[in-house]
Amino acid sequence: MVRETIRFWRQGRAVEVSGFHPRTTLLDYLRLQERRVGTKEGCAEGDCGACTVALGRVRGGRVHYEPVNACILLLGQVDGAELVTVEDLAAGGELHPVQSAMVDAHGSQCGFCTPGIVMSLFTLYHASERPLSREAVNDALAGNLCRCTGYRPIVDAALQACGEQPRDAFSTNAEHNVQGLTALADGQDVFIGDETRFFAAPASEDSL
Ligand code: FES
Ligand code: FES
Repeated sequence: MVRETIRFWRQGRAVEVSGFHPRTTLLDYLRLQERRVGTKEGCAEGDCGACTVALGRVRGGRVHYEPVNACILLLGQVDGAELVTVEDLAAGGELHPVQSAMVDAHGSQCGFCTPGIVMSLFTLYHASERPLSREAVNDALAGNLCRCTGYRPIVDAALQACGEQPRDAFSTNAEHNVQGLTALADGQDVFIGDETRFFAAPASEDSL
């Protein structure tokens, strides 16, 4: 059976998307449909990490985030997950700790790789035990290419952000996110209504 509708969690509420082509990538959805262009396209084949975003799923009563390459992830694979992009990190007007650390450590030059690197560090920040080793940071950044900075300032930023401090929940409304994601995974319709946004099929590049 072909499912025509997916639902995922985004910015504290459920999003329902229907009528999209089955080969629509998450990157195309973000850039062409949501018009969120912070997520970059570099290689478009899963090698450079410029398109990295985070997907969250509930395990053990909290949301665990993993980095994914949006250029090779089909939109349908986001079904049931929380989607976090670089635009969401400072949504309250305050930089996320990994963003502040990147600024402090001068971890960005041309900036094209930076959103993807920030999202990889975001998942590391919320996942890793403390203290964090340089090797763990190198592993977390293995999928992100930067042609400008030589990586040392980026690794320094990661160590600064994730060093000794306890990790915080990403959202100030983390419990709400857990409840929402759990409801989605269970197929409940509790968020249909004012808290659900509906999108038409993503725009094709020809229509831009
Ligand atoms: Fe290079 Fe996605 S654009 S990995
Ligand atoms: Fe230019 Fe990384 S800052 S590619």
